[in-house]
Amino acid sequence: MDLNDAAKLLERSRHVVVFTGAGISAESGVPTFRDALTGLWSRFDAQSLATAQAFREDPDLVWGWYEWRRRIVQRVHPNQGHLAVARLATLVPQLTVITQNVDDLHERAGSASPVHLHGSLFAPRCATCARPAPLPSTPDQSGEGRRVPPPRCAHCDGLIRPGVVWFGEQLPEPALETAARAASACDVLLTVGTSGLVYPAAEIPRLAARSGAAVLQVNPRPTPLDPIATVNLPGPAAEVLPALLTAAWGGFPLA
Ligand code: APR
Repeated sequence: MDLNDAAKLLERSRHVVVFTGAGISAESGVPTFRDALTGLWSRFDAQSLATAQAFREDPDLVWGWYEWRRRIVQRVHPNQGHLAVARLATLVPQLTVITQNVDDLHERAGSASPVHLHGSLFAPRCATCARPAPLPSTPDQSGEGRRVPPPRCAHCDGLIRPGVVWFGEQLPEPALETAARAASACDVLLTVGTSGLVYPAAEIPRLAARSGAAVLQVNPRPTPLDPIATVNLPGPAAEVLPALLTAAWGGFPLA
């Protein structure tokens, strides 16, 4: 089965889930999680920066890394893949966007309230009282390998932490429930730019397949999701997603 078969399934769908990973933001210039450790950060292992213990032991290092990543996101733009996902909401009866990404590119492309399974770089909170905290308005002090002291909570003076899910932490229950409900109810799940390796998020496409949905995968490389994909669409999201929408609904500019 090929892109035209995928387009027919999409065009006839009632409820589509789009499930995205770091690969959809790659063409915007946002490094995927594992290749984010370039340059001065390369001496760190991702998992050693993305844990509550790492934050307790060296809050300035961990906060500096996430500030560096957030500032990168603020300098880039959504790509044609994000725009196609946003456009899809106007073309199918029901669309649920579920992302593992902590960037805000889906929102900036026009997707209303994507479900963030792993939190967001744009939702810092107090590590002590959990109150949401404002994004730092200070000039950018981040840089490759640079420690930045986290702000303090206006309410309890606790340290402010990134609003992302760290390894070993629970995913936000409401987000996971919404995602599981949508995956069980949809008739098409479009998985884009994820290696399908990190659970429980990686359970979402598998749940959709078990519930009888057609799974369409967009990824330039093979993944463990290949066997459950009804159609595998090899290629970059910024190319394949616009082509998919054009094949389903006729050519239109995605601008
Ligand atoms: N278009 C589509 N897919 C792409 C592109 C692209 N242009 N470029 C790369 N990819 C694919 C890669 O082939 C890979 O399968 O994107 C995937 C990125 O995989 P990961 O870096 O493992 O990202 P992700 O699957 O989102 O990781 C899930 O694990 O790293 C933790 O919490 C982090 O949310 C992340 C989670």
